[in-house]
Amino acid sequence: MQLTTSIDGFRKALDAARHEGKRVGLVPTMGYLHAGHRSLIERSAADNDVTAVTLFVNPLQFAPTEDLAAYPRDLDRDTAIAEQAGAALLFAPSADEMYPTGTPLTSVSVSTISDPLDGRSRPGHFTGVATVVAKLFAIAGECRAYFGEKDFQQLAIVRRMAADLSFPVEVVGCPTVREANGLALSSRNVYLTDDERAVAPRLHEALQLGRRLIEDNGERDPAFVNEAMRAHISAEPRFTLDYAEVVNAADLTMPTRLVGEVRLLVAARLGKARLIDNLGATAA
Ligand code: PAJ
Repeated sequence: MQLTTSIDGFRKALDAARHEGKRVGLVPTMGYLHAGHRSLIERSAADNDVTAVTLFVNPLQFAPTEDLAAYPRDLDRDTAIAEQAGAALLFAPSADEMYPTGTPLTSVSVSTISDPLDGRSRPGHFTGVATVVAKLFAIAGECRAYFGEKDFQQLAIVRRMAADLSFPVEVVGCPTVREANGLALSSRNVYLTDDERAVAPRLHEALQLGRRLIEDNGERDPAFVNEAMRAHISAEPRFTLDYAEVVNAADLTMPTRLVGEVRLLVAARLGKARLIDNLGATAA
């Protein structure tokens, strides 16, 4: 696997691969790779001739109160994991390389679908994400790009951005990888103490409860489902609930009555970690 830290070097390597007729897969990450990231890299390696992993802890998507400085980093470990999962290239630029003038004057905002849920709790976050992903797409060129359903709102935003701005990128969504107890893997899980880890699966339980209400009990009132999920999470006092909502899966709008494909999404603080998770359900 080839490691590159320069935009120019990364762009040339991918151009050369395409010139040889190779299909390129792109896996954008902030590093501290786990089995969730690995599943995206393996999927890309199965679908494409050359897989490029990007590793950049993007300052634009962190609010001043958030964990940019504390975000876990381990380039040696990430290099080994990316290579083992089938990556041919690892692009790990510095902040100076990505943003030589400091904060860029140009940003990308995807309206409406960025407004609810994490967009409401983390103002500016999705503009930071869309801006860096647009930049990575502009650098990488024609490719398939792999994103996890774990960050369901992010996936919807990236899909919409790629379509709206005509990037030559096919966005591929991949299922959430979980621990056996249901906890979704996240780089931020390292912030959890053993006690917190023991109760963390409650988030996934709340989502499963919501799905059972919809699919098994025929519940069609979103307020009832939201209340049941909120009560399940709040029953554990170590959680500070942020949101628990069921929305229309296609556009993340709030339904008045549940119909068709819906998505249940939760976010809560647990100790030093802010955890998010989501699950699909069908209101047939
Ligand atoms: P990061 O949190 O490192 O995640 C990188 C990719 O891995 C995202 O597409 C995310 O959805 C996916 N992922 C994370 N945990 C997962 C899990 N348990 N199962 C499956 N996929 C999982 O998301 C970001 O970085 C950044 O916002 C980024 C898109 C790189 C822009 O900076």
